[in-house]
Amino acid sequence: MFEHAIRHKLQKLLSFMCLCLWWSTCIHVEAANDSLKPGHTLNYTDIATLCSKKGKYCLDFQWKDVGENQYLVVSSANNNKVVWMSDRNQPVDGDSAVLSLNRSGVLKIESERRKPIILYYPPQPINNIKATLLDTGNFVLQQLHSNGTNTLLWQSFDYPTDTLIPTMKLGVNHKTDHHWLLVSFMAKTLVTPGAFSLEWEPVEQELIIRRRGKVCWRSGKLRNNRFEHIPEDAQRRLKYTIVSNGDENSFSFTTTNEEADLWWILSETGQISDGKGYVARADLCYGYNTDGGCQRWQDIPKCRNPGDVFQKKTGYFNYLLNTSIEGNISYGYSDCEASCWSNCNCNAFTEFYSNGTGCTFFHWISAENYTFDSTGENFYFLVNMLTNHKGTKKWIWIGAVAATALLAICLFTICLALKKRKFVFQDKKRQRMVMKMVHLATCSRSSAMEDFEVDLKKGNGLKLFNYTSVMAATSGFSSENMLGEGGFGPVYKGILLTGQEIAVKRLSKTSGQGIVEFKNELTLICELQHMNLVQLLGCCIHEEERILIYEYMPNKSLDFYLFDSTRGKLLDWKKRFKIIEGISQGLLYLHKYSRLKIILKASNILLDENMNPKISDFGMARIFTQESVSNTNRIVGTHGYMSPEYIMEGVFSTKSDVYSFGVLLLEIVGGRRSLGCYGVDRPLNMIGHTWELWKDGASSELVDPSIKESFDPNEVQRCIHIGLLCVQHYADDRPTMSDIVSMLTNKSEIVSLPERPAFYVGRKIIHHELSSKGFCADSTVEITTSTVEITTSTIDMTDS
Ligand SMILES: *[C@@H]1O[C@H](CO)[C@@H](O)[C@H](O)[C@H]1NC(C)=O
Ligand SMILES: *[C@@H]1O[C@H](CO)[C@@H](O)[C@H](O)[C@H]1NC(C)=O
Ligand SMILES: *[C@@H]1O[C@H](CO)[C@@H](O)[C@H](O)[C@H]1NC(C)=O
Ligand SMILES: *[C@@H]1O[C@H](CO)[C@@H](O)[C@H](O)[C@H]1NC(C)=O
Ligand SMILES: *[C@@H]1O[C@H](CO)[C@@H](O)[C@H](O)[C@H]1NC(C)=O
Ligand SMILES: *[C@@H]1O[C@H](CO)[C@@H](O)[C@H](O)[C@H]1NC(C)=O
Ligand SMILES: *[C@@H]1O[C@H](CO)[C@@H](O)[C@H](O)[C@H]1NC(C)=O
Ligand SMILES: *[C@@H]1O[C@H](CO)[C@@H](O)[C@H](O)[C@H]1NC(C)=O
Repeated sequence: MFEHAIRHKLQKLLSFMCLCLWWSTCIHVEAANDSLKPGHTLNYTDIATLCSKKGKYCLDFQWKDVGENQYLVVSSANNNKVVWMSDRNQPVDGDSAVLSLNRSGVLKIESERRKPIILYYPPQPINNIKATLLDTGNFVLQQLHSNGTNTLLWQSFDYPTDTLIPTMKLGVNHKTDHHWLLVSFMAKTLVTPGAFSLEWEPVEQELIIRRRGKVCWRSGKLRNNRFEHIPEDAQRRLKYTIVSNGDENSFSFTTTNEEADLWWILSETGQISDGKGYVARADLCYGYNTDGGCQRWQDIPKCRNPGDVFQKKTGYFNYLLNTSIEGNISYGYSDCEASCWSNCNCNAFTEFYSNGTGCTFFHWISAENYTFDSTGENFYFLVNMLTNHKGTKKWIWIGAVAATALLAICLFTICLALKKRKFVFQDKKRQRMVMKMVHLATCSRSSAMEDFEVDLKKGNGLKLFNYTSVMAATSGFSSENMLGEGGFGPVYKGILLTGQEIAVKRLSKTSGQGIVEFKNELTLICELQHMNLVQLLGCCIHEEERILIYEYMPNKSLDFYLFDSTRGKLLDWKKRFKIIEGISQGLLYLHKYSRLKIILKASNILLDENMNPKISDFGMARIFTQESVSNTNRIVGTHGYMSPEYIMEGVFSTKSDVYSFGVLLLEIVGGRRSLGCYGVDRPLNMIGHTWELWKDGASSELVDPSIKESFDPNEVQRCIHIGLLCVQHYADDRPTMSDIVSMLTNKSEIVSLPERPAFYVGRKIIHHELSSKGFCADSTVEITTSTVEITTSTIDMTDS
């Protein structure tokens, strides 16, 4: 009895499990809802989706562009890539769109506020009909016959958008005279049909890209399943199918790997890409070139030359420029480009509306009128690829080769002469000159070897540059290449043979340091790598010359912008705050990982192409004045940034840097130099002025008028507060750099209130004295107060 009961229970359990299994398969089949039958609807509000049998593609309504327009789209389930969309000129209402197949066989999209979109309307009502999303990504409407076959009534593949997927055709259907072609978007986020089309040309049997009807690219004839002008990488996995008969002329491809997602997409700029690389680049076709399948055409304006191309840059213009606007909203990127190209005054353009239509043209400008910044806007600049780099590079190469050859010959001759003792030096001067040449030749050979070795290692170590390559890079330290006169000697811009831009600092010949110490010192500096520090790339030692090679900073230094009312506008508050943060990060890094002396001042903060700040000249004090460090009379720095303990006692610590940072921070907020003139009745320095306004609760008066529109009052308040904490008289009261970083990033509440700042002098005491000595005009003045005696004029200004 008992056994029987158990068996019975087991049987029940088993059958229950079977039932479960059956159910789950059932549900699975149900879930694979890949078709619409007459009377069915697909409602946007239900977020209902049709997915193909294997789940590769799905059909639904999706948000597609800047206008928040909805379209019915087929997308790949793997990567959500849209491969097809319903009529791009007719968006639907997102909140009410319904796709339906009604009982008379009409396939349509309806929404409350818009005209219905009829995808298929049968000649006479039919009922035995089904719309299915296939695993190829094709959405098909079929009539089912009782004999088991079906006929195709409509398919999405007949209306390609900008994407070609396997088995989708390009070409022409002769029976219906219907053309299959891809048409690009109008702009990146604007799906309406744009300027470029990809077509199959049945006579020549090749693919062509047209821009507004004009052929600009051809693939070349198909040979051995390969098109001449499509890169091999893009074709490797493809098998092309060409159909050419009375019914149709078509091109399509399939992939050798069925599972892989594969598509070609034609972009609004005329590129075809497959997600991994380019298939075709009609954007590089300017009419003068035939490379990569580009087509030559006749009507190139006389003012445009081979090599002229438009390049995308991000940033903003420094001045109000001579511009003109094309407000026609049917103009997209490539139309603007074509307009600018044919107008000889135009050398840059950008889209006018935020949705990417319309154009703004810039006339008579050059890159010098432009500041690069990744947070800026995109512009397309006309540049010439041939004269810009390749040309100069070639000449540098030729020059270098010629110079080397000449030197080798000279050396050989001299060696020969010396050996045979036939060469008699007439005077000492000439002898020295010859010896110099010998030295140069041998020296550059050995350092060329070193260069090579260092390159191989690719380490962070100090790279030694040879003198000839530095000379070549800077055109022999020519005055055109000079960037400025830094504290330690002139700085030049250079371009290495590799095309890399560098800054070359030629130290004034006052260092008494030996080569080994010099190199050791530089190695330490080289090892410091942080995005807010100017990277030292290497050095060159040539006889008495000491040359430092740095990464090149295209946007000059902070003071260039800060203390100029026009350029000050280029640094809005967001950028300034980013700069403050960057400097604090760089300084924190230096405090953590080095004992190097830092000279912090606005002219030592360099800006890269994205306006990121980078501290320069750290560690220079040691190298430059090795023996004079102990000499307190000679202080490398700039007054205004120097802490009181440094000025008076020569005591230098990280808190002195904090002091300088505070001054710099207040300068960035106020856009004024720390030493200047602050009101006739209040000849205070900037710090004192700030302190007074702070106490009066009027610190917003300090803000640079250039950023009046853009500043965030809370952030500014916070910055001024931090700045005042940094410039407190007693070093111990000042926060550390890590405190500052966390205060800036809002992580920690600022609790302490700033005490009296350094060099704060009351209003009355110095009034008469200063006004008689002309505080504003003279930067070296004697300030005498009852508590401190500062004699700035005794400080040797080696660096300002
Ligand atoms: C398939 O989708 C249609 C439309 O949303 C719906 O009416 C139908 O019930 C679904 N069928 C299954 C088996 O889920
Ligand atoms: C979908 O929309 C149609 C038409 O508006 C409506 O008749 C139908 O009830 C809706 N279906 C669902 C499941 O909401
Ligand atoms: C199907 O839709 C069409 C067009 O909207 C309409 O004319 C026709 O009456 C509809 N048929 C049915 C059975 O609802
Ligand atoms: C099936 O029936 C349809 C319509 O009745 C017809 O057009 C088609 O030729 C038939 N197919 C076959 C294989 O019999
Ligand atoms: C801008 O350029 C156009 C044509 O190049 C010229 O006619 C016009 O005077 C210029 N406008 C200004 C304000 O410079
Ligand atoms: C806008 O440009 C298109 C194409 O170039 C042109 O057909 C149309 O007439 C223009 N519209 C206006 C208002 O100028
Ligand atoms: C693009 O933006 C402009 C200006 O806002 C507008 O007039 C135009 O209709 C938009 N174009 C499209 C296709 O939405
Ligand atoms: C743009 O730069 C050029 C020098 O390259 C200069 O001559 C011209 O005046 C600048 N234009 C403006 C508007 O500043």
